[in-house]
Amino acid sequence: MLHKNYGINENGHLTLCGADTVMLAKKYGTPLYLMDETLVRERMRMYRKATEKYFGNGSGIHYASKALSCKEMYRIAADEHVNVDVVSIGELYTAKAAGYPLDHVCFHGNNKTDEDIESALAVGVGEFMVDSFEELRALDTIAGRMGKVQRIMLRITPNIDPHTQKAISTGELDSKFGTPISTGQAEKLTELALSLDHVVLEGFHSHIGSQTFESEPFIEQAEVMLEFTADMKKKLGFEASKVNLGGGFGVAYTESDPRVDYVENIAAIGKEIERICKKYSLKKPAIFMEPGRSIVADAGITLYTVGSVKEIEGVRTYVSVDGGMTDNPRYALYGSKYTALIANKASELKTLNCTIAGRCCESGDMIGENMLIQPAERGDILAVLVTGAYNYSMASNYNRVPRPAMVFVRDGSDRLVVRRESFEDLYRNDI
Ligand code: LLP
Repeated sequence: MLHKNYGINENGHLTLCGADTVMLAKKYGTPLYLMDETLVRERMRMYRKATEKYFGNGSGIHYASKALSCKEMYRIAADEHVNVDVVSIGELYTAKAAGYPLDHVCFHGNNKTDEDIESALAVGVGEFMVDSFEELRALDTIAGRMGKVQRIMLRITPNIDPHTQKAISTGELDSKFGTPISTGQAEKLTELALSLDHVVLEGFHSHIGSQTFESEPFIEQAEVMLEFTADMKKKLGFEASKVNLGGGFGVAYTESDPRVDYVENIAAIGKEIERICKKYSLKKPAIFMEPGRSIVADAGITLYTVGSVKEIEGVRTYVSVDGGMTDNPRYALYGSKYTALIANKASELKTLNCTIAGRCCESGDMIGENMLIQPAERGDILAVLVTGAYNYSMASNYNRVPRPAMVFVRDGSDRLVVRRESFEDLYRNDI
């Protein structure tokens, strides 16, 4: 099986962390998102310990909750003593509703409105990741008006190619995110931040992209970030206490994808950070990362019920399921590859090459093409693996399809953490 938390039981059914997925499909209905809570917790702990060990005291992670945001995820992060990153007031309020300590939240986004800034200040968000001059001035003004002083980091662009897809690459010069170093604008932003009364500058942040399988781009990024940090010390007398390298470690979606040993990579990055700090005679700042995908992706499975199996002779076979781009838009958006199987026939050979199609009125509504699965028939449970990241969080109600329920599995027990949307939910705001 693709990852060690996926298995096959004595009935030939696919299991997630030991739980029978066919039984869960019967119990909760389909489409259904399943999450292996044990793995999510393991990953959070692994990241927390590895960053402390290899990046030094005070270092750590922020879970990038855009990958999977629901109350239970913030409860788990709180329980595992992991900070979180939010990118909208919607995510922030979900964390608040879950009772997450908001002083451990950092607030991202390339276009925070005045209302966003006010809302985040009002609930006492830990850190703003300031993206632009406009945001910095607005934050200082609003914080002043509210009688607050806000901790901030500056999001800057190091101009690094993360060796990944364009759509999920963010650290290059031409990016809507952050303020570039190479043009001199990041220095000006730092100067401005240091001159303002209602913000306290802690350090610098950058994020180079997602689905990165090697440590080299992160090392290159660390070099640029620490060189800039040393430069700001020399020019402005500002010594950053924190540097945040963002998220981006990759996850295998298919057998042919590389596997990343996260601890080994963090150790390699940590070693280089030591060297770079020595080179620039810099006191090592606390180093942070913001993993999202690599905490939740392979913990997830989506279950569907097969409807039609349509063989167009000489062309292809469409296996249609009761979900699709509404619960997983990643093939439609990025052509992302997935691994699928028939959960109730998991021990049988995969002999059917097919296109797995969704139920939306849109030809591009697919989970994937050229997918190899066991022979399928109406009523079978189709499982798509590695759907824990950016599936539920990017789901939509296109064609007024309700979003699926989500169930967490841990130690042989299962519990509903997000209810299935009802039809009433779909027209709740219609007048
Ligand atoms: N930090 C920042 C500032 C980010 O922009 C992101 C992701 C992360 C952390 C987390 O990166 P991760 O560890 O998950 O790679 N919807 C796309 C992914 C977009 C990622 C956006 N930013 C997808 O489905 O592949």
